[in-house]
Amino acid sequence: MCNHPIVAETISASIVTKGYAVVDNLLPKAELQQIQLRFEELQQEDEFLKAGIGKQIHFTIDNTVRGDFIRWIDSSDKSAPVYKLFEYVNELLTNLNRTYFLGIKDYETHYAFYPKGKGYQMHRDRFKTNPHRIISFVFYLNENWQKGDGGELVLYNEETEAIETIAPKANRLAVFLSETLHEVKSCNTERRSITGWLLDVPTELTFLG
Ligand code: OGA
Ligand code: NI
Repeated sequence: MCNHPIVAETISASIVTKGYAVVDNLLPKAELQQIQLRFEELQQEDEFLKAGIGKQIHFTIDNTVRGDFIRWIDSSDKSAPVYKLFEYVNELLTNLNRTYFLGIKDYETHYAFYPKGKGYQMHRDRFKTNPHRIISFVFYLNENWQKGDGGELVLYNEETEAIETIAPKANRLAVFLSETLHEVKSCNTERRSITGWLLDVPTELTFLG
């Protein structure tokens, strides 16, 4: 049976009450493995670019703030194995709109990897020059992650006290309000994920700020 609506409702309810949600074992093993293979293929094809901060005229690359490499996922990729993840994203989007009236119109996603020793300093995904990101989600691909590997996602409250530390374990989906302060701890081994944002405008209009 398809459990997408149940998972989506659980995530939505948790976001509304706590501001975030964590779901483990999201996909069947075979589907996860296909995504992991696709990720490796893209790395071998050298498809990743150094990630920057801000957009358009605000775009800068600052290695001290964020150390990841990214590859955006476009519509041609949506038939690739990540499609299985997007089924959940679509259901979540529908649920958030129907039950909680969030007015989500679209989403944008990229593959990301952090080389050993890199992280992403405390930041928000929603801010003045990028107000359209409403919900952030990250699907982790790190098989056999263990304590000491680092790269945890830490969520903070407005007093910058840590409220949750989330290990980037394979097949785990973390979802949080994009306005939340958060950080990616420096990792001691390469860290892979698919990161995305639910938007309140169609993706092609995010530049409007
Ligand atoms: C981001 C981010 C969190 C993570 O890409 O903006 O905060 O756990 N990612 O990868
Ligand atoms: Ni972020």
